[in-house]
Amino acid sequence: MQYAANTLENHWMPFTSNRDFKSEPRLMVKAKGMHYWNHKGDKLIDASSGLFCCAAGHGRPEITEAVHASMQEIDYTPHFQVGHPSSFELARKVAKITPADLDYVFFCNSGSEAVETAIKMALAYHVAKGEAQRTRFVSRERAYHGVNIGGVSLSGMVRNRETFGAVMPGVAHLRHTWSPDARFTRGQPENGADLADDLQRFVDLYGSKSIAACFVEPIAGSTGVLIPPKGYLERLREICDRHGILLVFDEVICGFGRTGKAFAAQSFGVTPDIITMAKALTNGALPMGAVAVNEKIYHTVTSSALDGAVEFFHGYTYSAHPAACAAGIATLDIYEKEGLFERAAEMSPHFLDRMYDLQGIKAVTDIRGYGMLCGIDLATAGRPGLRGFDATKKLFARGLHIKFTGDAGICAPALVATKADIDEIWRIFKEVFSEY
Ligand SMILES: Cc1ncc(COP(=O)(O)O)c(C=O)c1O
Repeated sequence: MQYAANTLENHWMPFTSNRDFKSEPRLMVKAKGMHYWNHKGDKLIDASSGLFCCAAGHGRPEITEAVHASMQEIDYTPHFQVGHPSSFELARKVAKITPADLDYVFFCNSGSEAVETAIKMALAYHVAKGEAQRTRFVSRERAYHGVNIGGVSLSGMVRNRETFGAVMPGVAHLRHTWSPDARFTRGQPENGADLADDLQRFVDLYGSKSIAACFVEPIAGSTGVLIPPKGYLERLREICDRHGILLVFDEVICGFGRTGKAFAAQSFGVTPDIITMAKALTNGALPMGAVAVNEKIYHTVTSSALDGAVEFFHGYTYSAHPAACAAGIATLDIYEKEGLFERAAEMSPHFLDRMYDLQGIKAVTDIRGYGMLCGIDLATAGRPGLRGFDATKKLFARGLHIKFTGDAGICAPALVATKADIDEIWRIFKEVFSEY
């Protein structure tokens, strides 16, 4: 596909070095299965499922056809006081795979909106049960919870915060769980459960009845894949239970099979009160996010309002858009029919074998993997992030797409990846990383 050099200027691209990109564009023009094609006609293997979205592989006709049929039937309906059958069907399907009684599903349009929604749900829940003073939140250093002001406040990645001032007040951050002692650990590190005791320290500092919720990604994804130490999530759950704090798992990356089960909550055997999700909910085909909450939260909030009154003053024009619901239903059908969560669990050992084989390369300073998700740190060269950016471009030139955050590559192939696909990813990594 051709483009005129002067047609790139007007799009201010997100999380992009715009000046660099526009001088050397990397345009994707086609996607199928495990691959993208760029505007020069080169084929690239996709090592990050787009942006951790396309778990069933790109270009699934089942999804395209479901969306097409839905759009022909109905273009749009609001979901304020009216509805469309598809959202109820999708909510039922999501509830079928969420852990325990997290059976009540609120739809939005992105992971960032899911996080904002969860923040407001936590506040609304405590107000409904007469604890309106619970307005503080706890999250973690190196967390990523999207880009809206609430999510940025919870986030713990400095570059995402520093430009935007003091953001939302009342957020305390647990220490992150990365430790140099655990370098190259495969799966959960043995040590570090005690880092969860930071939550108890915040309770001791701020008062047990002031904290509304504790947000964590079960595996911190965007920061470069930090796997929770053994016992860490369990300990967070215990402390939350002891003090009436809601536990929120942000599973925007971990959800839908990435860890070998539907949700990381199930892989790690810890049940939160709220799960945020997005990305692979529609296989990335259309924007959609969702928040699943347990029965206690749903019933407390919905029974607190007067008869006929709105119970939760929150929602989006495009909440549960029928086309996105159609994409979500088709996607979950694919996951189920093809057993993709189980396939991820089966493929994980081969995937991790290949990723950990990179350990001997001089520039590779740490590898952290679980399920079908792996972070690979490259030694910083110059200022942080430069080498990661250089590697992104070099890998692209050799036919591989991956998301780097700073100097950490985040490898998350689609759950349909074959051993040959994984070997191809490994081969290109090895070639490029060995040049540093
Ligand atoms: C854990 C987590 N939460 C929230 C988000 C934000 O999602 P979105 O980019 O769809 O707004 C992301 C995105 O990567 C994420 O990884």
